[in-house]
Amino acid sequence: MNLTYIETDGKRAGIIATADRLSEIGCILPEKSPIYIVHDINVACHVEKIRAAAMSEGRCIKGELAITAGENEKNFMTVTNICRWLLESGADRNAFVLAVGGGITSDMAGFAASVYKRGIRFGYVATTLLAQVDAAIGGKNGVNLDSYKNIIGVIRQPEFTFSCMEVLETLPYKVILSGLAEMLKTFIIGDRNSYFKALSVFSHIRTAGDRKAAMISAGKELQELIYAASGIKAGIVGRDQYENGERRKLNLGHTFAHAIEKLANEGNEADMPISHGDAVATGMILAARLSDRIFRHNGDDCLELRLVKDFLSCGLPTECPYPVEKLTDIMKKDKKAENGTIHFVLIENIGNVTTYDMTAEEASAMLV
Ligand code: GLY
Repeated sequence: MNLTYIETDGKRAGIIATADRLSEIGCILPEKSPIYIVHDINVACHVEKIRAAAMSEGRCIKGELAITAGENEKNFMTVTNICRWLLESGADRNAFVLAVGGGITSDMAGFAASVYKRGIRFGYVATTLLAQVDAAIGGKNGVNLDSYKNIIGVIRQPEFTFSCMEVLETLPYKVILSGLAEMLKTFIIGDRNSYFKALSVFSHIRTAGDRKAAMISAGKELQELIYAASGIKAGIVGRDQYENGERRKLNLGHTFAHAIEKLANEGNEADMPISHGDAVATGMILAARLSDRIFRHNGDDCLELRLVKDFLSCGLPTECPYPVEKLTDIMKKDKKAENGTIHFVLIENIGNVTTYDMTAEEASAMLV
């Protein structure tokens, strides 16, 4: 098991553990607190293994609650239900909530734990690649309000995020790809070598006759990539937990991605739903184009062409399904916009990004 830490204000705020098997989790579970598991209903098979690992280390699992973890359920009602269940189960201020699932589960269970009895301890077992490299790291917990995503929430660090290869082996490649988009994003921000390593691992998996077998045999390299991506995010969060500066870099491609997702998932029936990862991949292509225009990259330095080729080699989408003008109005309402200005993240080169303030209209005009 590899460990990395989130350190804020010189203090250890959380552990990120990257392992091979679920059975390795026992030793990082709390010794003296009763554990209440909140899990995505689809990952009950993993919960059984966690229970066995906990028992073998003498840890106490007091209760389990299965939840439906979709964007439509990501609301106050579910958080209230989690808190009510904790109360009815007798959870006191010494209780520990263990969220098992993807980003929606960790967001909601982490939020519930952050407000229940004014805040109890919690940790995550991240069961998707997206949660392992992004959503379950950094302490952003919360819920949607009506059609506005993650509009209510807190930043409070989980005591640990546990990621292992075993949970990825059962996922379809399409779901893995969503996480790959966030992983590549992290490497574009801060680790050029790992970016190329990830491309090599995933282009191999994509072209393999048996992708599941290829994923399993690439387990060690994949674990190293997850460890590397987690480490970069942990470092950024540690230096700028509340997103006043450097943490904004983690939004690379996201201003465009959120607009694409809003159009695709809430538009009319002709619109095809899109996953967050697919939207992030296409958003990064637009960010690369914007970077090319602003930094005057061309020829071999052209980032858009480079990213399109790289993303296609792994099976990620690269074409924005909407004309850029359609994204502009939505980008103006981006929750991170300040007085009409958006902190766009631009790519200087692979492994190095910078923020650049401009309005949605200015960015759109440069992209068409
Ligand atoms: N997902 C971006 C962040 O945690 O800041």
